[in-house]
Amino acid sequence: MNTTAKTLLSGVKPTGRPHIGNYFGAMKQWTDMQSQYDCFFMIADYHGLNFIQNGSEMKDQILNLMIDYLAVGLDPEKSVIFKQSDVSAHTELAWIFETITTMPYLMRAHAFKDAEAKNKEIGVGTFNYPMLMAADILLYDADIVPVGQDQKQHIEYARDTAQKFNNTFGETFKLPDALIMKEVAIVPGTDGQKMSKSYGNTIPLFASKQEIVDSVMKIVTDSSGEVPENVYEIHKLFVDETELEKLYSENKGKYKALKEALIDDIEKFIQPLREKRHELMQDIPFIMKTLEEGGEKAQEKANSKLLEAKKKIGVL
Ligand code: ADP
Ligand code: TRP
Repeated sequence: MNTTAKTLLSGVKPTGRPHIGNYFGAMKQWTDMQSQYDCFFMIADYHGLNFIQNGSEMKDQILNLMIDYLAVGLDPEKSVIFKQSDVSAHTELAWIFETITTMPYLMRAHAFKDAEAKNKEIGVGTFNYPMLMAADILLYDADIVPVGQDQKQHIEYARDTAQKFNNTFGETFKLPDALIMKEVAIVPGTDGQKMSKSYGNTIPLFASKQEIVDSVMKIVTDSSGEVPENVYEIHKLFVDETELEKLYSENKGKYKALKEALIDDIEKFIQPLREKRHELMQDIPFIMKTLEEGGEKAQEKANSKLLEAKKKIGVL
């Protein structure tokens, strides 16, 4: 690890197959930044527990996400790749944060308001979600947290919480910054809304050829303009816009041809990723060992920060 480099931390919940929105909105930046930063990439399994409450499914999802991480190019030689539940300091620090946080403050969180608007009975884990996320970030003195736009508020919660702790107990935590890539802050799904696992509008990152065909054919096209906007918005993630403009002006109104071109371009991009994933799946013990070793490295850093916080609050 480079001792003068800044620290980067990010993570995804193991709650389903990653899609191209997750990739362009988050994971791509991670792989690009591995050489410049001291990186920590987390599988947010305790956050995922709010959604997946079945032991064997959780186990599968964790393993799959680890394979995905390695397949997109996260490199355990350069970065610490670990799962949240292997580092108990996360839940311990979250508790400490909960004691200095008020309910009205957490009730202002978008995720909470959305759940409330849907008239759901909100779990305590969902309500406290921002506190665990603050602990995830602050334990590692992270300088930057690359995420999609939807996570911006959570990073603000982490900053506020760091500040509140520092004001109450003395300077301890670094204030992190979100890193949100503007042009891909919100990758649209096949229906034009934000691409999201929960909306059923995704193109999976490791999709088979058939899945690519099926999802592209599903893309909603409106006939009002000459360019099918939803097709174009997805296409530009894969192909340079100058090239695309030519293709789209030569195929004005020919939605089928444009969709076929998009299928080819997505397939070109995904095929090597799919192969890499397949190769990794041949050695599951290696994957598990890599995850375990990442957990040990993460513990070292997190435990020393937790110790500092425990001294500040006076329990040590
Ligand atoms: P989902 O909405 O599909 O459940 P997650 O909440 O697991 O996705 O998000 C994982 C990461 O991917 C987060 O950093 C999030 O901001 C990013 N992300 C998710 N969907 C998109 C999208 N459509 N565009 C850009 N980034 C996204
Ligand atoms: N809440 C994030 C999501 O839903 C996942 C996450 C948990 C995370 N802890 C984090 C992201 C810490 C960045 C940093 O996508």
